[in-house]
Amino acid sequence: MLTLPELPKQKKLKSIAVLTSGGDAPGMNAAIRAVVRYALSQGVEVYGVTKGYSGLLEGQIHPLNASSVANIIQRGGTILKTDRCEAFFKKSVRKEAANILRRKGIEGLVVIGGDGSFTGAHLMQQENKFPCIGIPGTIDNDIAGTEDTIGFDTAVNTAIDAIDRIRDTASSHDRIFLVEVMGRSSGWIAVQTGIGGGAETVLVPEHKESLPEIVESINRGVQRGKTSSIIVVAEGHKPGLSQRIADGLSAQGFSPKVCILGHTQRGGTPTAHDRMMASVMGAAAVGYLIGGKSASMVGIQSGKLVLVPFSKVIGKKKDLDPSNLYLAQILAT
Ligand code: F6P
Repeated sequence: MLTLPELPKQKKLKSIAVLTSGGDAPGMNAAIRAVVRYALSQGVEVYGVTKGYSGLLEGQIHPLNASSVANIIQRGGTILKTDRCEAFFKKSVRKEAANILRRKGIEGLVVIGGDGSFTGAHLMQQENKFPCIGIPGTIDNDIAGTEDTIGFDTAVNTAIDAIDRIRDTASSHDRIFLVEVMGRSSGWIAVQTGIGGGAETVLVPEHKESLPEIVESINRGVQRGKTSSIIVVAEGHKPGLSQRIADGLSAQGFSPKVCILGHTQRGGTPTAHDRMMASVMGAAAVGYLIGGKSASMVGIQSGKLVLVPFSKVIGKKKDLDPSNLYLAQILAT
């Protein structure tokens, strides 16, 4: 089980803020709760920034107490709301953000988000000497420096639950279903969902398959007596890929059905795994930040919580584990 590492004993900051940024992920609320309650336990004041960096620039910053985060551990989404803030790409805007925080007496920031969110935090830290620590929160699980991200486990469980339901109707009607999962340019959700859902084929951006190859794998199943099949498709850069593949299959005489799971994977009750990981990460992020650490993300390596410098995280997308893709493929045959 994931445990809290030894955290710095000294306390260098008295007041910190927390925000969520980028796509929401189930478990972000558990992380916010841990940030607030661990900070308060250390005698540190906490502010919540509403709507990510956009809200920060608008001064939407409010004090949080233990009750502010009551009853949220089981809720998906983020009580702090979130945003993707284009303006934060500008140096002058990041300077203004650091000034806004300083004027409130805030000395450090916890950012829960993904690669883009950490880039903003890292630059704000470098340019304005404003301490920041990141917590990886994205369903995609594509952040370098960590084996896991908050929301991934929940998203995979949601997708597997959907596949179990689709399989009932697919086998009743002897149909081929293309089930499209999220993950942008990363196949982590697709592979894990494919293995756990027993999919007949898994299509990921990291290993493109041509239409004839897809047809061949369907036909292999038919020859073994399969009357239905589930093809898990990672959305790739442009959602709707499953429909485009279905059109190609239809032209070859198949009658596939398409189910795009989309944002259903982003919401819902976080799993126990995500709640636990978010709680440990939230507490550790505060411990490191108030102990004087900065420009780093808390992550999981070899099953343990570690602190990883932003320089080893940002812009370095985590590659899909080829052994998992291989497993998905051989179990599907
Ligand atoms: O990064 C998380 C994610 O859910 C991706 O899997 C997906 O491609 C993207 O966000 C969708 O973004 P939006 O919610 O802005 O449509």
